[in-house]
Amino acid sequence: MAEAARSEKHIIEIREVWKTYRMGDEEVHALRGVTLDVIRGEYLSIMGPSGSGKTTLFNMIGALDSPSKGHVLVNGHDMGSLSQEQVAYLRCHSVGYIFQSFNLIPVMTALENVSLPMVFAGMGRKEYEDKAAAKLEMVGLQDRLHHKPYELSGGQQQRVAIARAMANDPALILADEPTGNLDLKTGQDIIEICMRLREESGVTIVSNTHDHKMLGASDRVVDLRDGQVERIRRSDEIDIQEGHIEGIEGVEV
Ligand SMILES: Nc1ncnc2c1ncn2[C@@H]1O[C@H](COP(=O)(O)OP(=O)(O)OP(=O)(O)O)[C@@H](O)[C@H]1O
Ligand SMILES: [Mg+2]
Repeated sequence: MAEAARSEKHIIEIREVWKTYRMGDEEVHALRGVTLDVIRGEYLSIMGPSGSGKTTLFNMIGALDSPSKGHVLVNGHDMGSLSQEQVAYLRCHSVGYIFQSFNLIPVMTALENVSLPMVFAGMGRKEYEDKAAAKLEMVGLQDRLHHKPYELSGGQQQRVAIARAMANDPALILADEPTGNLDLKTGQDIIEICMRLREESGVTIVSNTHDHKMLGASDRVVDLRDGQVERIRRSDEIDIQEGHIEGIEGVEV
C-alpha cells in the first residue's frame, strides 16, 4: 500500500544511481549516488556546472542510457527490469524529449516532424495530421506547418520540438538545456510555453539548465555538483531579484 501511494505522488524515483564511463584505463564517475524524487505535475530544474552530470542524469531518467548501479523508477516501474519493447513503448508514449540543438529531421516539415512520434505509435494519417496541426497551433506555429527546419528561426524550431515532445500526450517532458541555443527573449518565450503546457495538460517537466530565468518557472531546483545532489530548493526559497541571484554576483536574470 505504502509503495503504491508513493508511486502515485512521485512520477520518478531515482535511487542511489551511479554512472561510470570507462575511458581506456580511466574511470569517469559521471553520477555518484544520486537519489531524487520527482513529484507528479511539478516543474523541476536541474542546475550545475558543466560536467556535473546533468545530461547523464537526463539520459538515465529518459531511459536513453542505463545506470551502472542503482535504480530509476518511472510510474513505479523499475526501468532496469523492463524489456526492450516496454522501454521503447515508454519512450514513445510516456516521455517527450527536448534537446538544446532541437534535433528536428531536416528534410521533414514542421507538421511531419511533429507527426513522427504518432506514426511510430501506430496512429492513422488523418488523425496524426490533425493532431500535429493542433500541437503546432498550441505553440503558435499554425502558419508554419509546411516549413522545414532551415526555414524556421531557432526559437520556432524549438517550438516545433516542444510540439513533437507533446505529440503522444506524455506524462513527462524531459528538456536538456532547452534555451541553451537561444537569445534571452526567445528563451523566455520557450519557458513561458513550457509553463503554459504544464498548466493546461498537467505534464511533469524536468529541465536541465544553466539559465537563471528557468528558476522562476520551477517549483524546485536541484543543484548537481560532481555527480551528486548538492541541495534541493523550492523556488520560493530562492531569492530571485532582477540582475541578481542569491550567491551569484552580477548574473542577469
Ligand atoms: N559517453 C561518455 N563517455 C565518457 N565520459 C562521459 C560520457 N558522457 C559524459 N561523460 C563525462 O561525464 C561527466 C558528466 O557529463 P555530462 O554530459 O552529464 O555533464 P553536464 O552537466 O550535462 O555538462 P554540460 O553543462 O556541459 O552539458 C563529464 O565529466 C563528462 O566528461
Ligand atoms: Mg549537458
